[in-house]
Amino acid sequence: MRAIVVEKAGGPEELTLQEIPTPDPGPGQVLVRTHAAGVNFMDIYQRSGHYKVDHPFTPGGEASGVIEALGEGVTELAVGDQVTTAQAKKAYAELFVADADRVIPVPDGIDLDLAAAFPLQGLTAHYLARSSANPEPGETVIVHAGAGGVGLLLTQLLAARGVRVLTTVSTPEKAELSREAGAADVFGYDDFRERAKEVTGGEGVAVVYDGVGMSTFDDSLASLRVRGEMVLFGAASGPVPPFELQRLASGGSLSVTRPTMHHFMQTPEERAWRYRELFDALTAGTLSVRIDRRFPLEDAREAHAALASRSTTGKLLLIA
Ligand SMILES: NC(=O)c1ccc[n+]([C@@H]2O[C@H](COP(=O)([O-])OP(=O)(O)OC[C@H]3O[C@@H](n4cnc5c(N)ncnc54)[C@H](OP(=O)(O)O)[C@@H]3O)[C@@H](O)[C@H]2O)c1
Repeated sequence: MRAIVVEKAGGPEELTLQEIPTPDPGPGQVLVRTHAAGVNFMDIYQRSGHYKVDHPFTPGGEASGVIEALGEGVTELAVGDQVTTAQAKKAYAELFVADADRVIPVPDGIDLDLAAAFPLQGLTAHYLARSSANPEPGETVIVHAGAGGVGLLLTQLLAARGVRVLTTVSTPEKAELSREAGAADVFGYDDFRERAKEVTGGEGVAVVYDGVGMSTFDDSLASLRVRGEMVLFGAASGPVPPFELQRLASGGSLSVTRPTMHHFMQTPEERAWRYRELFDALTAGTLSVRIDRRFPLEDAREAHAALASRSTTGKLLLIA
């Protein structure tokens, strides 16, 4: 089968299309013929060496497709089922193997492009909005990169609950998209801290959701109200260097958390709850997913370069 393989850590040029053997599903696993794989920052962190992986390495944690074979003991799924997952491995390929309990049947009304486009960013937005922090209706929060994949979804989920969402973006076009998703105010990165203080009467915001990282972290902390919560969930601009914990006291007894999706998908019940709420919102039309661009599998390099370049708004897909 054709798959994208990374032989050593490096830039997008390390993503090469190769012919490799088709994997066999082990006990409790399924073999899925890939329809589309989602492109995520996680894949970039793994490709570049920011997250350690063994080589040769095939990226791909998120994908949709059709079950082609069942491993021993799998009874809940059948050959031919349309499925999606945000917890696969090696999905930048024509076929991939996944644990059956991490694979979710796609309900009627959701096509396989959408099924590949929403899970990782959608589940992330869901746990950020509901579990990492849980702002009350009427409270004010900041969502950085408000026109990005996670940003657009998180803004919609929070705004639907009556949370007042302030976002940051880098261009007027992105500002427009972020407003359409429900942002009450949209700021640039240079002065979001002052603007957030201004619109909260000097108090500061209850929560900052920061997936940008290095370039925003300091001003994010400074934007919080007393006992505000800093949810650092990514490093699109680079990792945040170590910092002095005393700053949390002087900043107003602040808290900082650095969550990652897998820890919020621990049990079958928790996974089912998050997927169910997202599927319900997608089919009811109260949550919309913006698919920015589709690339053929062999153009994985272009897809990685695009995501890292800040030129995208929403999801990038690799069509297998
Ligand atoms: N912890 C978790 O569980 C989890 C799960 C999924 C994703 N994430 C994280 O969530 C963040 C967003 O992911 P996403 O897939 O939705 O990406 P995205 O937001 O669509 O893209 C990243 C955005 O960050 C902004 N940005 C600011 N400075 C940047 C820089 N120096 N380089 C690149 N981008 C910069 C850009 O928007 P502007 O041009 O508007 O600034 C860019 O479009 C990433 O940090 C990712 O690692 C975390």
